[in-house]
Amino acid sequence: MSVLWTSAELQAATGGHASTPFSVTGVSIDTRSIAPGDLFIALVGDNGDGHDHLASALAAGAAAMVHRIPNGTPADAKLLVVGDTFTALHTLGAAARARFAGTLVAVTGSVGKTTAKEMLRCIFASFCATHAAEASLNNHWGLPLTLTRLPTATTFCVVEIGMNHAGETAPLARLARPHATLITTIGTAHIGHLGSQAAIAAEKATIQSGLTIGGLSVLPADAPYFGLLRAASGPARVLRFGNAAAADARILSLDAEPAGSTITARILDETIRFRLNVPGAHMAINAVACLLLVRGLGLDLPRAAAALAGFATLAGRGLQRRIALPGGEMLLLDESYNASTSAVRAALDVLRGLPATRRIAVLGDMLEMGAAGPAEHQSLDLSDIDHVFACGPLMGERYASLPAAQQAGQALTSDALAPAVARFLRPGDAVLVKGSLGMKMKTIVEAIDAAGVSA
Ligand SMILES: Nc1ncnc2c1ncn2[C@@H]1O[C@H](COP(=O)(O)OP(=O)(O)O)[C@@H](O)[C@H]1O
Ligand SMILES: [Mg+2]
Repeated sequence: MSVLWTSAELQAATGGHASTPFSVTGVSIDTRSIAPGDLFIALVGDNGDGHDHLASALAAGAAAMVHRIPNGTPADAKLLVVGDTFTALHTLGAAARARFAGTLVAVTGSVGKTTAKEMLRCIFASFCATHAAEASLNNHWGLPLTLTRLPTATTFCVVEIGMNHAGETAPLARLARPHATLITTIGTAHIGHLGSQAAIAAEKATIQSGLTIGGLSVLPADAPYFGLLRAASGPARVLRFGNAAAADARILSLDAEPAGSTITARILDETIRFRLNVPGAHMAINAVACLLLVRGLGLDLPRAAAALAGFATLAGRGLQRRIALPGGEMLLLDESYNASTSAVRAALDVLRGLPATRRIAVLGDMLEMGAAGPAEHQSLDLSDIDHVFACGPLMGERYASLPAAQQAGQALTSDALAPAVARFLRPGDAVLVKGSLGMKMKTIVEAIDAAGVSA
């Protein structure tokens, strides 16, 4: 493993003091996933004080960044003592960005951030050394942490910028200083905190405040408030993907199959045909957005498109699995990771396209929608879904307005609903499980797995 930071570099970046010279090969904020040679940053947060876990970090072979030295810490521990670990995480992230000589891409949007980030990782990595955020690390600690992990010998870096409240995007964008930005979608996720879709668009648009001079802004041409997104891009080069007449990239045709699609797309002045091993028109448009961005950066398009064949579904975001039941198989569409209105619509579309004797949707509440919640839930079209299970009070209201023949079961929690879902399953079924993370829809996936006949 190559050295990521020396203690001298850490001191220079943070203004801290190293107890002894050392170097680290990684950065971690969680002792449960720490590796020998990591720098453990002892953050103080809602989940406790990292300083309480210093001993286990050191025992695991890590060095540590701290702002206090707990009693009993060995005198020879490799410590970097700073004024405040959270502030130092940011300044170290900024230092990582400052020394990075490659190209940085930042992705935001209401849905599709992690998908696009992983698609871009997949494309860039087929060209050159690439660093990308782990999982959905996209907030005020996830983004700086991602930057601190950025090796200098890297050509491309892909980060994700998320927000729950207004004002969170711009500081992260200024920390990342992207050469290119991608806004995937403008939807209604987190509308409860933001108040309106216009406010969501305005918030997402502030990602452009971090864009470097001469940067590239890739925008969803069909999004509500496109004009606002365009205006916020200022002098940047703007490229648009979507169906709008003026779009720079569009899908010409999509051959859908249950497990993926073959897409023909026009990207700037090139027409390409490529394979995507994840189903759904929403995944296809994410892919086209990513291809437009990499083409905008000057990469070879056929090679980039071919790389997308290596993109696989992310756990909880549309992973399809066959489950053996007594008498035959059923198909599980695991979307248990999260839900917002556009994501549920997209997942229902995938369900409609699956081969099945019965199509079943197990839907949990979409959270953080505030006053818009009831209407957003009522807006879901479930008319051609054979059977619906509802988890939570908001989806329960939608469920109550369904014809009795579609109503398969309802409960306030996934724990309470899971047994009924498991009992309902038959060979030939296709079952979508989707809901906000807080609804713990994974419990239902586990119950379906348990109903399966073990191989
Ligand atoms: N362009 C899109 N339109 C609608 N839904 C999408 C789109 N891209 C992804 N999704 C769905 O949204 C959910 C979250 O996807 P993810 O890529 O993790 O987004 P984010 O990181 O923005 O939360 C998944 O269910 C995924 O299938
Ligand atoms: Mg994400």
